[in-house]
Amino acid sequence: MLARITANEPAISGVLVPPADKSISHRALLFALLAEGTSRLEHLSTAHDVGATARMIELFGASVTGGGAETRITSPGLWGLREAADVVDMENSGTGVRLGIGVATLVPGITVFTGDTSLRQRPMARVLGPLRQLEASIWGRGGDAMLPVVVRGGKLKSGTVDLRIASAQVKSALLLAGLGIDGPVHVTEPVLTRPHTEELLELAGVALEESYTADGAHRVTIRGPAQPSPLTYSIPGDPSAAAFFVVAAAVIPEANLRVDGVYLGPTRSGFLDVLGTMGAAIERGDSDLVVEGTRLSGTVVQGLAIPSLIDEIPILCVGAAFAEGTSAFRDAGELRVKESDRIEATARLLEAFGVGVETFDDGLVVHGGLRPGSLRGKRRCISARLDHRIAMAGAILGLIAGGVTDIEGIETVATSYPGFFDDLRRLGSATVEIGEFDERDRP
Ligand code: S3P
Repeated sequence: MLARITANEPAISGVLVPPADKSISHRALLFALLAEGTSRLEHLSTAHDVGATARMIELFGASVTGGGAETRITSPGLWGLREAADVVDMENSGTGVRLGIGVATLVPGITVFTGDTSLRQRPMARVLGPLRQLEASIWGRGGDAMLPVVVRGGKLKSGTVDLRIASAQVKSALLLAGLGIDGPVHVTEPVLTRPHTEELLELAGVALEESYTADGAHRVTIRGPAQPSPLTYSIPGDPSAAAFFVVAAAVIPEANLRVDGVYLGPTRSGFLDVLGTMGAAIERGDSDLVVEGTRLSGTVVQGLAIPSLIDEIPILCVGAAFAEGTSAFRDAGELRVKESDRIEATARLLEAFGVGVETFDDGLVVHGGLRPGSLRGKRRCISARLDHRIAMAGAILGLIAGGVTDIEGIETVATSYPGFFDDLRRLGSATVEIGEFDERDRP
């Protein structure tokens, strides 16, 4: 399916209540599975990725009812998990599958995971290797590299795992597996990554020990066996979804956007710090933002800051295209193994609008200077490359730059933000048409 964004005078204004956070929603469902009894989740994400996790927990023995304002999950809990009667298809969800692999070590019998074309190309060794250090029985295609992955549940050994890649998904898989292990599991990550698993463990009554080394590495210890208690929890708004509209408002002159009910913990709000150093006019509350449009300047983003904004780099590059001067995003090689190779995908996207870009193994340099609205009267067609964040970055770039932007493969947006195009219509000045267009009518 195709979206056609037609923009003349770029503008953005209004109030955005972002969709529920995807990372937290996956984890809340998994905790509800591992707790015995009924958990109540308010505002669970309706993203397709989260739907795949809901189906996985049903296959492992939970029942999921309701939805919208309140989803109820009733489960036999950690000690009553059931072998899945079918292959667990996690579709496009990297977080769902990597966390699910950790949980499958707790499930009696065999679990087979697969996913869509994009997910089947993504690296799984990063989660299989560390779980094997705890003696998990686990195998994957291509020499334990990719999906399909097979897990045989059973007792793992306590131990220490030092992660070389800063990955909240891998850390979480280990902590979830640790719930069933007799004795401590110590996990060290090079820098604190999003701590939603730790936050929910504590909320569910499972004690953790945490410390930091002098060079900033984060160490967390879980002492199993421990069954989490049922949760009653309201999922906050997703900062990674809000980022698309925040960047648009930050660079469009006269823009005024308010964002309400958004999670703004430090591991998720790195993009706001970057926009701040670029000169953006953003007022930050505990869970709300007010953004006004202004002219930004280029910046350099690298090192330990990267994990706190890795998902926001494509849209930050869009912001950088409208900044004065050059911006660099480095130490971000992880972008190559997301839903698409986001270094290439972002570069091709920007080039379609005439923006100068250089790519490196670990990132990209964006030459700014594009003026909002300056490309009205021009047309371009871009591919979402099976990647929701590339599709949304393209739509926002089209809105700000002006002219007609066709984005192919926009179904992928529902992976994280099913209401994205509705919010774009409501907040932005562009016309948004969705459908199949005649070939002769294409740019
Ligand atoms: C996520 C962690 C990050 C992030 C992803 C969501 C999570 O991935 O990019 O979108 O919910 O744990 P990595 O763990 O691979 O860094």
